[in-house]
Amino acid sequence: MTGTVRLLALSGSLRTGSFNRRVVDIAAASARAAGADVEAVDLRDFPLPHYDADLERSEGVPERALALKDLFCGADGYLVAAPEYNGSIPGVLKNAFDWISRPGDGETPMTLRAFRGKVAGVMSASPGPWGGIRGLSHLRQILSGMYVLVVAEQLAVPDAASAFAEDGKLKNPAYQGILEIIGRRTAQFARVMKDG
Ligand code: FNR
Repeated sequence: MTGTVRLLALSGSLRTGSFNRRVVDIAAASARAAGADVEAVDLRDFPLPHYDADLERSEGVPERALALKDLFCGADGYLVAAPEYNGSIPGVLKNAFDWISRPGDGETPMTLRAFRGKVAGVMSASPGPWGGIRGLSHLRQILSGMYVLVVAEQLAVPDAASAFAEDGKLKNPAYQGILEIIGRRTAQFARVMKDG
């Protein structure tokens, strides 16, 4: 074994009280129980301009994007909960991925140091009846396209406004169990990838 597995837990929502933050927190607790170190990342701490190749050429990648990229590079994987906005993932999340996918010194566009060889567990929540499943398929595709191993299990929590019990768990035990499996599997697969 080559040290503790490190995961990030992020929500693609900036909203206070985000349902997606709440579901990713459940998966994170399960990953911790499986032995991983999990750091919660709040994208509000990394406000970024829209990706703009002219800005990148004239000023370089913004400091905050470099700081976020450092976090991703130092992690073995991530748990990502993304709301569905008009059938896809929120722009703020895609924009963050776009900035941190940019090559640094000695990297090529294919290096994808923040992504390649990492493991991700994905999930979503929505007050609507489908739970954000359309956005989730995009999230899986985007991460896979950057050579992230996305674990097979996923969950889109519908009717999120009434889905949580007082203790923060999901009222539906099957949903709660799937989130816990996503957290555990992400930690386990990251362990395997890390040990190589
Ligand atoms: C939404 N919402 C939404 N929900 C959904 O199930 N499918 C969708 O396509 C959309 N589209 C959409 C677009 C935009 C611009 C907004 C602001 C919202 C509703 C969304 O699921 C809801 O706001 C969630 O509460 C967002 O997740 P958080 O912030 O609770 O994590």
